[in-house]
Amino acid sequence: DWTPASFIDETVSNLRNQLGNDKVVLGLSGGVDSSVAAMLLHKAVGPNLTCIFVDNGLLRKNEFSQVLESYKTLGLNVIGVDASQRFYSELKGVSDPEHKRKIIGRIFIEVFDEEAHKIKDVKWLGQGTIYPDVIESVSVNGPSATIKSHHNVGGLPEKMNLKVIEPLRLLFKDEVRRVGKELGLPGGILNRHPFPGPGLGIRILGEVTPEKVRLLQEADSIYIQGLREAGLYDKIWQAGAILLPVQSVGVMGDERTYEFVVALRAVTSTDGMTADWFHFPYEFLARISNEIINRVKGINRVVYDISSKPPATIEWE
Ligand code: XMP
Repeated sequence: DWTPASFIDETVSNLRNQLGNDKVVLGLSGGVDSSVAAMLLHKAVGPNLTCIFVDNGLLRKNEFSQVLESYKTLGLNVIGVDASQRFYSELKGVSDPEHKRKIIGRIFIEVFDEEAHKIKDVKWLGQGTIYPDVIESVSVNGPSATIKSHHNVGGLPEKMNLKVIEPLRLLFKDEVRRVGKELGLPGGILNRHPFPGPGLGIRILGEVTPEKVRLLQEADSIYIQGLREAGLYDKIWQAGAILLPVQSVGVMGDERTYEFVVALRAVTSTDGMTADWFHFPYEFLARISNEIINRVKGINRVVYDISSKPPATIEWE
């Protein structure tokens, strides 16, 4: 009988046999897959596991510091690397979505590789690949962890000359969550919505600038916080705000404004391959719209995306 506890026992003992005294490096994304993979490897090899968590400057508001703290609390040996400026400067002037993805993937690999090389005699690259990633391994767009998409884009293991170890290869998402729960991962990580590797970089349509990132982080944070307070977060597969590359006219007091438009997205889904837009109560939309417009200077209009997938996609880019 498969139980999270028996899976953990068996996996940890297999990992110990396979890894012996070898050193392992693993990239954490803040998502459930890489976090559970890290916890299993940590249980197996302890301090021989080094985790690397890269801030690409495209994460949600305060996410880097909060998630880094929870990883440390869990006892993981984690190195946090703030590479935001490097990502911003490479993204300057670039507005094509696939070009942005390539740049973000490439810089991620460079930063990860630099950090991994500082670990003496590292032999293995741990990855949070799960079963749906294995069967859809040609898809860059799967609802998967940071490493997988970047790996597909840029070839992380090939470049690094490391052997790959993937303890979650045979699990589905719900099983990963059960294993994570058994391992004591906090709910904030376990039940987190999927978040794309390129992050807010593909939710800022067109050119990404640090100012736009800050604007979107504020709007997104009001929205996600609102979902949690309304008890809606766990009913939704994935939600986020998108900064549109248009400005529109508004009025604030006696002043005419000319500011950005934010689109809110929320979908239900089982695997991210198809998705329906979420039917919010109007009162919720009204409250969030007011809060964003009143509190985020630079945004004067909020719209809600009522497109399902297909033919639309979950992300706008
Ligand atoms: P779409 O927009 O294709 O998204 O309906 C399906 C799922 O995949 C995520 N997504 C990505 N994840 N790198 C990732 O790691 C990417 O480039 C990427 N593009 C989309 C998206 O957030 C959704 O969960």
